[in-house]
Amino acid sequence: MINKKILIVGASSGIGKELALRYAKKGYRIGVTGRRADLLKQLQESFPSQIFTACFDVMESDNILHLNKLIQEMGGMDILVYNSGYGDTSATLNWEIDRQTTLTNVNGFLAVIHFAYQYFVEQGYGQIAATSSIASIRGNSWAPAYNASKAYMSNYMEGLHMKTAKCKNNITITDIQPGFVKTKMAKGNVQFWVSSVEKAAQQIETAIEKKKRIAYISRRWWMIAQLMKILPYSIYKRMG
Ligand SMILES: NC(=O)c1ccc[n+]([C@@H]2O[C@H](COP(=O)([O-])OP(=O)(O)OC[C@H]3O[C@@H](n4cnc5c(N)ncnc54)[C@H](OP(=O)(O)O)[C@@H]3O)[C@@H](O)[C@H]2O)c1
Repeated sequence: MINKKILIVGASSGIGKELALRYAKKGYRIGVTGRRADLLKQLQESFPSQIFTACFDVMESDNILHLNKLIQEMGGMDILVYNSGYGDTSATLNWEIDRQTTLTNVNGFLAVIHFAYQYFVEQGYGQIAATSSIASIRGNSWAPAYNASKAYMSNYMEGLHMKTAKCKNNITITDIQPGFVKTKMAKGNVQFWVSSVEKAAQQIETAIEKKKRIAYISRRWWMIAQLMKILPYSIYKRMG
C-alpha cells in the first residue's frame, strides 16, 4: 500500500483529471481542485477512499485556505502539481481574456507555488511540478497573454530550480511543457503532434517520477522547442 500524497490543482477535466486517475490506480492519496464541483464529485466517487476534493477559484484570495484544508484531509502532501490554466485567442486584444489568463496562469500559479515551496521547506522534502507549455518559449500574436503567462511560469520554475539547488533543501522542481494535447484547451487551426490526454498524463507521471527539470509532452516536442529558441525573429514572426 502506497501512502504517498499528491495534490493536483486543476484536475476537474483534461490532463489534470487523467493524471489524478493514474495516481489513484497506483494507490496514492490525491487532492483534486477546480471550480466545477459536479466534475470533482464524479472524480471523487471513482476512488472514494483515495480522492479528496476542494472546489475553489485559484484567482480568489481564499485559495490557500482551501489548500490547507485539503492537505489536512489528505493527511499531508508530498507532491504538488499546478495544472490550472486558462487561455483563449485574443485576436482583437480582448481585455477579459487577457485578464483571466494572467490571473489564472500567473497570479494563481504564484500564490500556490509560494505556498507549496514554504510548505515543503518546513517539511524537509517535496516536489513541485507545473504545467506550463511549449508556448512559453516565444510570443504569439493570437494569444499574447497566454504565451506571456506560460513564459512567466517556466522562467519562475527555472529560478526555483536554481534556488533549491543553492539551498540544498531537498525540493524537486519539474517544469512540464506540453505541445498540443487533445482537450478543449488546444486551440488554433494548425495543430500537429497532438497527444491524447492518456499519453500526456502518462509522460507527465514519468517526468515527475524521474524528477526531470523540464519535460516536453510528448517527448518529440523537444525538437520544436530547440528550433523555436534559435529561430530568428524575422522568420518566426511570419508564423507566430
Ligand atoms: N491542451 C493543450 O494542448 C495544452 C498545451 C499546453 C499546455 N496546456 C496546459 O495544460 C493545463 C491543463 O489544461 P487542459 O488542456 O487539460 O485543459 P482543461 O481540461 O480546460 O483543464 C484546465 C483545468 O484548470 C482548471 N482551472 C482553470 N481555471 C481555473 C481557475 N480560475 N480556478 C481553478 N481552476 C481552474 C479547470 O478547472 P475548472 O474549470 O473546474 O475550474 C481544469 O481542471 C493548462 O495549464 C494548460 O495551459 C494544455
